Amino acid sequence: MSCADPSLWPLAGLRVRAGNIELRPPTDEDLPALAALVPPEAGHDPSLPISGVTTPGEVAAQAVLRQIWRARAELAPTQWRICLAAYVDGVLVGQQDLMADDFPRRRIVETSSWLGAEHRRQGHGKAMRALALHLAFEGFGAVAVESQSAEGNDAALGVTRSLGYSPSGDTYEVHDGVVTHMLWSRLTRERWALHRQGYGLAQVECEGVDACRRLIGLPPVEASPVNNGKRIQPASA
Ligand SMILES: CC(C)(COP(=O)(O)OP(=O)(O)OC[C@H]1O[C@@H](n2cnc3c(N)ncnc32)[C@H](O)[C@@H]1OP(=O)(O)O)[C@@H](O)C(=O)NCCC(=O)NCCS
Repeated sequence: MSCADPSLWPLAGLRVRAGNIELRPPTDEDLPALAALVPPEAGHDPSLPISGVTTPGEVAAQAVLRQIWRARAELAPTQWRICLAAYVDGVLVGQQDLMADDFPRRRIVETSSWLGAEHRRQGHGKAMRALALHLAFEGFGAVAVESQSAEGNDAALGVTRSLGYSPSGDTYEVHDGVVTHMLWSRLTRERWALHRQGYGLAQVECEGVDACRRLIGLPPVEASPVNNGKRIQPASA
């Protein structure tokens, strides 16, 4: 049995695909290709303890590995990050992650993504985010999906604009000692329902969602109360 076997690690069976694009959790065998593809501008969580490397490319590669290892090890209902490798026609093009804090109560997902430099401006960034939105809203019952992009990151802002997000505020964060103005965007479930037909995606198919829901503290879809994605306040909240 390998760690890519869903009976050992349920997340391994997750698949979200539409037409020729597919998101799936990277296996250990996929990691060298991800590390080779990630560009320095992908950015990474500054809390990752990068060490022993110096060039921007080496830092980015180590950050991808540590981020994926950390996400696997620390996944819990209270806080999770699901890292998904993105493939177009079977070719690895980038990574699309979904993150949440206290999701069973807040029902809000944040996303983060990057593409290899040669795979940009072909609609892949929009398509893989659209698949992540499908997983968040349809698979997990999110009420909103949020995204933050540095001011001036026109590509990332182009993706959110194109998918119907609304501006939702801004923050100032320190990245590598530099203050960066971060612009936040939010897509509510209602706006997603209005805009999704215009995403240009083929029919979305998901596999392995129930096993994934169990890992993040949600009941299987068929056992969920019908709630139209609205928040269900636990009795103790
Ligand atoms: C952000 C990123 C994933 C976008 O992916 P992409 O495949 O290049 O974007 P798409 O081709 O799907 O374009 C989506 C929209 O943004 C627009 N866009 C893309 N790149 C753009 C750019 N550099 N300037 C202005 N608009 C741009 C497109 O025209 C498109 O708009 P439309 O749907 O109205 O035609 C990719 O550029 C990337 O990996 N960047 C480096 C990492 C990064 O910044 N990640 C985001 C961190 S928040």
